[in-house]
Amino acid sequence: MSVLVFTGTRPEIIKMAPVIKRLEAAGIDFVYIHTGQHYDYEMSQVFIEELGLPRPHFVFRLEGASPASQLGEMMIYVDKVVGSLRAKPRLTLVEGDTNSVLGTALASLRLGIPIGHVEAGLRSYDWRMPEEHNRRMVDHISDYLFAPTELARRNLEEEKVMGEIYVTGNTVVDALDMYFDRVVEVEAKVLEGVKFDEYVLVTLHRAENVDDVKALKSFVEILRKLPIPAVYPIHPRTRRMLAEFGLLGLVESFGHVQLLPPQGYFEFLALLKNARLVLTDSGGVQEEATHPRIRKRVLVLRSSTERPEAVGAGFAKVVGLNPNVVLAELEKALSAGDDLPTVSPFGDGRASERIVEVVKRVL
Ligand code: UD1
Ligand code: UDP
Repeated sequence: MSVLVFTGTRPEIIKMAPVIKRLEAAGIDFVYIHTGQHYDYEMSQVFIEELGLPRPHFVFRLEGASPASQLGEMMIYVDKVVGSLRAKPRLTLVEGDTNSVLGTALASLRLGIPIGHVEAGLRSYDWRMPEEHNRRMVDHISDYLFAPTELARRNLEEEKVMGEIYVTGNTVVDALDMYFDRVVEVEAKVLEGVKFDEYVLVTLHRAENVDDVKALKSFVEILRKLPIPAVYPIHPRTRRMLAEFGLLGLVESFGHVQLLPPQGYFEFLALLKNARLVLTDSGGVQEEATHPRIRKRVLVLRSSTERPEAVGAGFAKVVGLNPNVVLAELEKALSAGDDLPTVSPFGDGRASERIVEVVKRVL
């Protein structure tokens, strides 16, 4: 087994899926490890099943909830897994900027296994975000940096990272291409479950938005005043924090907001495809909105984005969480029409192909 492939959370499974598929097609031996950072069926296994991925060879059972204990546990697990293999792996592949990426990359570094970082070079320059810490650290210990865009490459060059940089595109585009037919298959059924003819799609889960009571209250205020119905699949972290701050009952009482559990990938994309527009703080959703089969305007409920390409192309606008600002921007976006580019700034759907070409060469 020459390659270790890691996932830890929902977006990592989705974005690593095209790479895993291509490794399989190329007949490259790999060990697939899910760190268990996301552990609920609807946040992890559902994607492994829907996307037709192999069963992970190892799934960690993380006991601690804090980032420090999770990072420590992951590193110890990686040590044990590598110790149990007959030969030392020749490459580790990680995707994105989560704690799982940092923990597994750091463990690989100490074991002397070269690291390939998929989706390298993103920068929000917002040092409040754990993702910004993670992506910076991992980029600087990676041997192969798969930058989705030219801008990501420039970010890496400016920081003088040590590894080799390849501009590949983002595998999120590959995933949408690969699985789009399945989205169309479930579309009618998904829409049957939506209570409204017309809706905005809402998601929110960033720590800086949901763990802060003031920010979360602003979000609830935005929901309350929406001029158009909303469909809102709630991330488990947000559900927990809404309950903790005593806001869940209020949100549940809004007749114009349909709350849903976290959705499967095809189901979520069907909702996205049929939405008027999107209010989100998600990274992946900002990218998916630019796909030629989706093409939606996005209001980014944050003060920064590490995906300025979506803004530059005219799809996204960073609007923060001030209700007055967001609602004014929403009115503008709703009347702006659908004159959006037909090409995604995040790639041509061949990112996973380019990444696996490099993997072959490394091996
Ligand atoms: C993590 C990533 C974030 C990514 C997001 C994708 C970090 C620092 N954050 O955020 O970058 O955008 O995943 O969704 O790595 N929980 C459950 N069930 C689960 C998973 C989480 O109930 O299956 C709840 C738990 O209360 C947990 C909390 O959500 O403590 C936060 O989970 P965690 O994985 O730490 O962070 P996310 O907010 O999911
Ligand atoms: N997604 C999903 N179901 C949902 C919400 C999101 O399948 O209910 C998918 C979405 O299509 C995208 C990814 O999950 O591919 C984004 O994950 P998330 O917003 O949790 O994390 P981020 O991208 O911000 O790291």
